[in-house]
Amino acid sequence: MILRGIGQSDDSPVTGTAAWLSSVCAILDKDPFYGPLLNDPYARHFAEAFSPESPVLLARYDDRATREAFIQTHEAVLCGSVTMPSYRKPLMEALARESLLQTGAKQLVVMGAGCDTLCCRLARAGFTPVTFEIDRPPVSEFRSRVLAQAPLDLSHVRELGVDFDHQTFGEALLGAGYDPALTTIFFAEGLLGYLQPEAVDEIFKFVRLRAGAGSRFVFSFTEGRSKAHGVRAPNSEVLDRQGEPPVFDLPFAEAKAYIEARGLKVRTLRSAKELYRDYSSRYAGRIGVVPYMHFAVAES
Ligand SMILES: C[S@@+](CC[C@H](N)C(=O)[O-])C[C@H]1O[C@@H](n2cnc3c(N)ncnc32)[C@H](O)[C@@H]1O
Repeated sequence: MILRGIGQSDDSPVTGTAAWLSSVCAILDKDPFYGPLLNDPYARHFAEAFSPESPVLLARYDDRATREAFIQTHEAVLCGSVTMPSYRKPLMEALARESLLQTGAKQLVVMGAGCDTLCCRLARAGFTPVTFEIDRPPVSEFRSRVLAQAPLDLSHVRELGVDFDHQTFGEALLGAGYDPALTTIFFAEGLLGYLQPEAVDEIFKFVRLRAGAGSRFVFSFTEGRSKAHGVRAPNSEVLDRQGEPPVFDLPFAEAKAYIEARGLKVRTLRSAKELYRDYSSRYAGRIGVVPYMHFAVAES
């Protein structure tokens, strides 16, 4: 199995995992159970833009049986990663909104934005901080094209094409008008695991040294997925095969010390185990809580 957007061609510039997530969100959004949880009418703008065939192929999932067969088949192979956006996206959005409200931050940096719609969902809710969205240059160009068609005023959002492993993202941010004196919310959903440890360090260093007092870093992180682990978390090989191997691992038990060693304080830590307890009883096991993915908010 290869993770790719529905209708996405082999030569598409968009990263496979990002496109896959977008197609999954567009399908979940059609569903009477998952749709209201996800509440993301903007996902389809990305998912329909992968190719001229994508809208036609996606329309097939309006049919309940086709949708349920897709969810069940893929959920089994991908160990929960299909229904995962229905809790991960609302959780990450809630952490971002809480951080924006509590700090009064007027600046947001979304890293590894992929085909994520956070800026649209925030704008819908009246949050319009100056927003810098970063991903690899081809993904960033794709985002710009899609967001230009979105039914929202996104004039506060800027796209930056940067490769975290090979470029200094801080220079790109500063060059694009990022103000290091302002309290800022940094956001990385489903990104850190793909980066080299040095690139992750660079992000923490930037949050600590080049952002206003009280800035926060909202992020998800994964454990047991990189090849360095003897026993790897389920479906990690799928990512190896498609050229997006998991690299950076952070065990939940070490997260607090890791964050503090980089000069930030821990505000929130949510483990997969805790989320599993919470969601599996609340949603009767219909949401696949991914066992290797945790969430954190750190502050400077
Ligand atoms: C799994 S996707 C997640 C996308 C989005 N944050 C979401 O949750 O829907 C990972 C994203 O990180 C980006 N990414 C991975 N490595 C990167 C790097 N070295 N530099 C810039 N972006 C990178 C990919 O292009 C992709 O869009």
